[in-house]
Amino acid sequence: MHQPAPGSSAYQSTVDHALTTTRGVRQRLDFSREVDDQVILDCIDVAEQAPTGGNNGSRRWMIIRDQEIKDRMAELYLAAGVDWVIETAKRLEGSGHQNERLMTGARHLGENIARTPALVIPTILGQHDGSGRPGLFDSVIQSAWSFMVALRSRGLGTVWTTMYLNEAPAVAELLELPEHVTQICLFPVAYTVGTDFKPTSRRYPAREIAYFDRFGRTRLEGGPGVVDEVDIKAKPALVHAAIEELGASANPSWRFDVEQVPGGSRVRLHQPAFADEAAASLADVRATLDYLVTKLAPSGH
Ligand SMILES: Cc1cc2nc3c(=O)[nH]c(=O)nc-3n(C[C@H](O)[C@H](O)[C@H](O)COP(=O)(O)O)c2cc1C
Repeated sequence: MHQPAPGSSAYQSTVDHALTTTRGVRQRLDFSREVDDQVILDCIDVAEQAPTGGNNGSRRWMIIRDQEIKDRMAELYLAAGVDWVIETAKRLEGSGHQNERLMTGARHLGENIARTPALVIPTILGQHDGSGRPGLFDSVIQSAWSFMVALRSRGLGTVWTTMYLNEAPAVAELLELPEHVTQICLFPVAYTVGTDFKPTSRRYPAREIAYFDRFGRTRLEGGPGVVDEVDIKAKPALVHAAIEELGASANPSWRFDVEQVPGGSRVRLHQPAFADEAAASLADVRATLDYLVTKLAPSGH
């Protein structure tokens, strides 16, 4: 079979398409279509090509197919906090709340997880030492992501779930995992209903989060810029109102982005700046964010 070569636009567009449309799938998992063991093993073979520290193969993969074990996993999945998610989803139904879709999807998965053709748990030999240095997790997460993309390329889907880790000891006992094995996440694996998943818009453009040479120094479309951000314990509407009040005292070239995050809002303030003025511009930007914090959440951020 003719393979497009790396560097060709055909290769790039296929790879980029897979990378940008491998989404968390919950509502569109096809619980009624069987998945062959070999498909899962092929995806693990692909995933095992991911880099690993010291070039040591220390990942181990649990594939759960037995219905009794799946039923017990489903109980643990709910006990780990998903039963609370289901209650919240019921409350949010029809409310238009920004998390309604996410919660509805999580509820659907929580109520049906025992019907998933396979549950897959990537694990790694060893226990994370919490040192913050590159170590165990750095040798497994990229592989788990490759697994997701390999599933996608075959018309299957999954979602990265970690809430079940609240019940990790019980899962370890159920699956007879030795003590020195660390679980990373749980993948419910199934064919997807349709394959037309799209990139999400809920990510920042590279130009706004990639900094050149020094933190906060961007290269915006029109040239160099600076950006700073702060989390404020206040609802977005209040933050918008405070920005509005800044009015004429704010620099007209500034752009504020306000996003809801757990516990409040994240405000990012962008300003175009000549490279040699960047430090001064950043100081202005920081002072403005500090002002907003003091005004809206004087107890801190
Ligand atoms: C570290 C991590 C933990 C996650 N844990 C859960 C989880 O416990 N349950 C769940 O339903 N989704 C979980 N997700 C999936 C995210 O909610 C999902 O990726 C997010 O909704 C964005 O959707 P997208 O992947 O389609 O962009 C997790 C994702 C990551 C990266």
